[in-house]
Amino acid sequence: MCGIVGYIGPQPALPILIEGLTRLEYRGYDSAGVALLEGDAIEIRRAEGKLAVLAGQLRDERFAATLGIGHTRWATHGRPSEQNAHPHASHGLALVHNGIIENFVELRERLEQEGFRFASETDTEVIAHLIARHRRQGLAPSQAIRAALAEVRGAYAVAVVFEAEPETLYAARNGSPLVLAKGEGESFLASDIPAVLAHTREMIFMEDGDVAALSAGEITITSLAGEPVARETTHIDWNPVMAEKAGFKHFMLKEIYEQPRAINDTLAGRIHQGEQRVALADLGLDVEFLRTMRRVVMVACGTSWHAALVGKYMVEQLAGVGVEVDIASEFRYRKPIVGPRTLLVAISQSGETADTLAALRQAKAQGATTLSICNVVGSTMTREADATLYTHAGPEIGVASTKAFTTQLVVLYLLALHLGRANGRLSGDDEATLLRDLITLPTMVEEALACAPACERLAKGLAERRDVLYLGRGIHFPLALEGALKLKEISYIHAEGYPAGEMKHGPIALIDEEMPVVCLLPDDDLMEKMLSNVEEVRARDGVPIAITQPALVDTLPEGTEAITVPPCSRYLCPVVMVVPLQLLAYYVALRRGTDVDQPRNLAKSVTVE
Ligand code: M6R
Repeated sequence: MCGIVGYIGPQPALPILIEGLTRLEYRGYDSAGVALLEGDAIEIRRAEGKLAVLAGQLRDERFAATLGIGHTRWATHGRPSEQNAHPHASHGLALVHNGIIENFVELRERLEQEGFRFASETDTEVIAHLIARHRRQGLAPSQAIRAALAEVRGAYAVAVVFEAEPETLYAARNGSPLVLAKGEGESFLASDIPAVLAHTREMIFMEDGDVAALSAGEITITSLAGEPVARETTHIDWNPVMAEKAGFKHFMLKEIYEQPRAINDTLAGRIHQGEQRVALADLGLDVEFLRTMRRVVMVACGTSWHAALVGKYMVEQLAGVGVEVDIASEFRYRKPIVGPRTLLVAISQSGETADTLAALRQAKAQGATTLSICNVVGSTMTREADATLYTHAGPEIGVASTKAFTTQLVVLYLLALHLGRANGRLSGDDEATLLRDLITLPTMVEEALACAPACERLAKGLAERRDVLYLGRGIHFPLALEGALKLKEISYIHAEGYPAGEMKHGPIALIDEEMPVVCLLPDDDLMEKMLSNVEEVRARDGVPIAITQPALVDTLPEGTEAITVPPCSRYLCPVVMVVPLQLLAYYVALRRGTDVDQPRNLAKSVTVE
């Protein structure tokens, strides 16, 4: 998730771009850059690191340009570096991009064969060269953009400037947000409203397939085919803080709602649609090793550890490989048995968690092959692991992990399918069926978000309680842990997650009319056993809250509260069922007035032991 800003008008462009980018830094900030049309030449300045580094480098330069584009990057393809920072240039044009180009490898190969030289590792640079290629063939800038975009597959929001057309700024959108804004004799574009809110409140939201041409006096929008398109202008009356969170009260809530998009981005380019098979080109591990390895060991902390526990079910049952899951801080001190036939999977949103990193280093020293599943490109774990699979969740700002968790589950599912195919456990037909479930997952998660009002209503009662118990079985037991962790870390209510079968071995003593028990009750082969647990809670005057599916509501004992989500396939069901757990925790914290995004005593990234 990157940030884009563009300006054309009578004012110097650079200060407007830098100020706009500052307001977009929440979208990611491993590098930044600007392109300015200075006279008849494009000047590009880029720097690795936060925007302040770029701003510092520009302090002593003077630019007269009144047209420019800027970008703050959150790396997806290619590590954070000056070369990989945007804008990218090609033969008289410069371009910034937010999104992921799925077919960039094949496009890059073709362009290289045609003589185009690549200066970065990014997927973005192919768009710049494709446009230049069409310009060479005689197309006008707007036509060249259209022709290039017809060749790319994936998500994009792009802004382009041409030396040959100094009065126009171009933009296009497909799957990544882009807003246009009209001021007095000036026009703006940005990935998000806060970037331009200081200048104007009149916004036009681009839609997928739109191509826009901005001059100082006018904005025109056409379709990819070049047909005129009419889009309404919307007056925005948010304050700047609201705008940064896209109108959501907290980053955590925004990130919960971003999950369908985050899952889509994580899947982008990883499913070979034609052949219906997993395409983990980025994995880069030797297939022979994957076929012959003896076991998988997963290490992680907190929410990432819960993802590993779900991943164990996926990999064991789909790939038939034994999986051991360890809390990273325990692994490093227990003299673990790992060696050359072990695949060590380190799961971490940040890629910087000290305990997980130490576990990865230890396993590597003992000869294991290491794979990191990470959200932050270029983080320490990704540099040290033998291979990395990224979760393309975009920056997660709320301390409570939400979209990082669901995208970790998606990557673990892809890995399980890949391993199952590599070792012959899964047939091509099995893989195709299991992939069909995955393709519908973003829609399922979207539908699950409709449970928000029910969560908000139930949060009223929960917010008054001192303790809450969470129960789950099988692949949903880790979700009981995750639901309890979410609640305790942001609402400060004591919560415990238990495998439901363990209830009778101790926790049942706690149940009385004061004890809410959140029960994960999907319609699966353990459903009857979970229903018995709900009955047991009811029989002791406890207050069961079933996270369930519509078909089961009538089977619940009287006095049970229900939150429903759509039915989903066996291994992906946790991705859907976790949504109400996140929302419940959020609304309870909201009622209690705690600091949802930065709960007390916690840090987003725990880089000390
Ligand atoms: O960056 P990591 O995934 O390695 O972080 C691990 C934990 O610190 C993290 O998941 C933590 O438990 C979250 N605050 C949970 O919401």
